[in-house]
Formats: sequence, structure tokens, C-alpha cells
Amino acid sequence: MVVALGISGGIAAYKACEIIRGLDKAGVEVQTILSRGGARFITPLTLQTLSRNTVLSDRTGPGDGGAVRHIDLTRRIDVFAVAPATANFLAKFARGIADDFLSTFYISVTAPVVVAPAMNSRMWDHPATRENLAILKARGTRSLEPESGWLAEQEQGVGRLADPERIVQAILEEAEISSLLANLHVVVTAGPTREPLDPVRFRSNRSSGRMGFSLASAAARRGARVTLITGPVGLHTPRGVRRIDVESSAEMRKAVLESRADADAVIMAAAVSDYIPPRSEGKIKKGAAEIDLRLSRGPDILMELGQSRGSEILIGFAAETENLLDNARDKLARKNLDFIVANDISVPGIGMEAGENEVTILDREGNTHPVPRAPKEQIAGRILDHVFRGRSR
Ligand SMILES: Cc1cc2nc3c(=O)[nH]c(=O)nc-3n(C[C@H](O)[C@H](O)[C@H](O)COP(=O)(O)O)c2cc1C
Repeated sequence: MVVALGISGGIAAYKACEIIRGLDKAGVEVQTILSRGGARFITPLTLQTLSRNTVLSDRTGPGDGGAVRHIDLTRRIDVFAVAPATANFLAKFARGIADDFLSTFYISVTAPVVVAPAMNSRMWDHPATRENLAILKARGTRSLEPESGWLAEQEQGVGRLADPERIVQAILEEAEISSLLANLHVVVTAGPTREPLDPVRFRSNRSSGRMGFSLASAAARRGARVTLITGPVGLHTPRGVRRIDVESSAEMRKAVLESRADADAVIMAAAVSDYIPPRSEGKIKKGAAEIDLRLSRGPDILMELGQSRGSEILIGFAAETENLLDNARDKLARKNLDFIVANDISVPGIGMEAGENEVTILDREGNTHPVPRAPKEQIAGRILDHVFRGRSR
């Protein structure tokens, strides 16, 4: 296994030595990349000695036979980690700035990315840093958040580099999961649908799309080819995911039926409208004190997939406010699914618009598997690991 380890210009740069040691002990080849700022804190000689590899930096010339070093390296690595990651590098990565070796390497990498930010708590708390990190996480980057404690500036706060042992562990985990779903095509739906009332108005629901996007991201991190079919949401597309934007349930149905042809799994996390209003060709004029809207049943995409199923794994979601497990069990059987992920949307702080969720996975054999409350990114990983146990190719 080969890991590229970027070291940028923070006071914690010296802790990269422990990370190299930990990886080396685990039998991993480490290729270090030192930023200009990083070189002010630690010498290439130290890194070269510990990693037994020459250090790459802005000073590095072409490789043997004129090879382009950053592209050459992307082909060889299993994981790209940056520890410590400065506020400056989080910003460069988030925006795709490629003005030195480390940032140019980032934008060329297809392997999983792990960052371990470290900085003064004021820099950590700045909205720019928060936004940059949110962009990276939405792309599928794993972030090991800094810890709280005494900082180099003689003040207490959050900003200290995560424990090097944790960083080593996370890098090894990312490498391990990165091929779990290799060669599988996973189709995920996300977000709400919008059913037009007239050219300017629509009926919709509160789905944020986060659960579906987290599932797409987690599947891509596990090496799957991922198609994400999404209703209108304000979320960044995860790295390596093919995204199809749709609006109405009819458009979502069409995209799902087209994408399922060679799918190994279809995960329907979208909140597709059950009932759709009639559509007026012209804008509905304000006038009458009341208007009647007669809603009619929209397409039941999951039911359609279940009735015409091939060998793909079908996974549905059941958002319920009462009799959670009974309703979910009924839906699983009625729609001929393999798994259903049930969540209780009456509990505050989880589900629909929230960042966290707590779910129970039910299967055809009647087993139930509870997944305790956690951020949706983690829930997504647990759902995939449960569903694909023993099924990866
Ligand atoms: C003594 C000192 C300590 C610093 N520590 C950090 C740090 O922990 N985290 C950080 O993001 N920036 C830190 N900075 C600022 C960065 O070094 C500065 O933004 C630099 O341009 C980063 O270089 P690089 O991103 O090219 O590695 C520090 C600066 C100094 C002078």
C-alpha cells in the first residue's frame, strides 16, 4: 500500500514524523509532499530519513524520463492524506487552486482523501475555514477534526492536530474500504421532487437531499460507480459521482428506469411526491377567494422497480411518524424490496431537514438492524456496509 502524505505549514508539522512512523510500522510505503510553508517547520531530511523516500515539493523536477511527477504519483497511491492541513490548503483544495506541487497534486488525485486540519482556534472558527471544509466533506473527503487543548499561541481552544495514531488509523481504514464496492454500479436517488402547479408555482416537500448525497459519497468512497439522481437541492456533488438533476417525479422515474439497466443496487432515498396537482399551462391568477386542487397519485417508482426486478439489490426508505417498524415492514413486502431503511421523522433533530439521523434497517428475512443516531455521512456508511456484507465483487 502506498500513501501520499502532504505536510503543510503549521506548528504541528513535526507530528507528521509520528504519522510516517505509524504508517511505516503498518507496512505502508509513504511518499511525503512538503509545502513551501511546511518546509519552514520541518526539514526534508527528517522526512526523507523516516520515510526512506525522497520528498516531493515545489523544488522537485521531472521524474525519470521526464515523467510528470504529480500525475505519476496519483497512479500509484491508495490514499492521499494531508496532516497537518493549514487553513491555506483547505482553501486551495476547496477552490481547486493549483499553484504549487501539493495543491496541483490534490486536483489530480482520484484516491480517497483524508485531511487533518490544525490551526489556531480563531482560524478554525472563521467562516471561510468552515465553508472550505464543508465543501471538502461534501466531496467525500474524510476530515479528522482538530482537538481541544493548549495551542502553540499559549491559549486554549480547538485547533490542535488530531492524535497521530487516529490519523494513521483513519488512513488505513480509508485504504481498506476504498475497494469494497469496486466494479459495482450503485444508483442513488436524493432530495425532493417538485410538482408544478403552473409555470411559476410547485408543490414539494422538506427533503434536504443530505441522506441520498451521503449515500452517494459513501458508495463512491468504497469504489463503486455511482449515479446520483437528485431533485432540486443546494448540495455539492460528491467526488467521482455522476449526477443527474431532475425536478418532477415523472422526470425522476424516467432517469431511474434508464439508469437501472446495469445497476447492481438502487437506493431510493429521494422523497418522491405521492400526490401531484393538476398543472395549469398559464399562471394561476389571483382572484377567487378559494381554489380547489384535486391531487392525483404520482408514479410509485419503488413499486415499479420491485415488480420488474432483475438481480439488483433494491433499498427503500420509510419516513414515518407512527408505527415505524410495522409500516416499514409492510412497505418492504408490498414493494418487493431487499432492504428498507426506516426512520422516525417525528423525533426532533433527526430525519428530513436535519444533519443527523437514526435508522433501523429491515430485510426480507425479517431481521432488524438498528443504527444509532449519528451524522448522516456515518449513517450512510453503516447502511452500505450492512447491505453489501458479503456481496462485494
Ligand atoms: C509560527 C507560525 C505557526 C503557524 N501555525 C499555523 C497552523 O497551525 N495552522 C495554519 O493553518 N497556519 C499556521 N500558520 C500560518 C501558515 O504558516 C501560513 O498560512 C502559510 O502561508 C501556510 O503555508 P502552506 O499552506 O503553504 O503550508 C503559522 C504561521 C506561523 C508563523
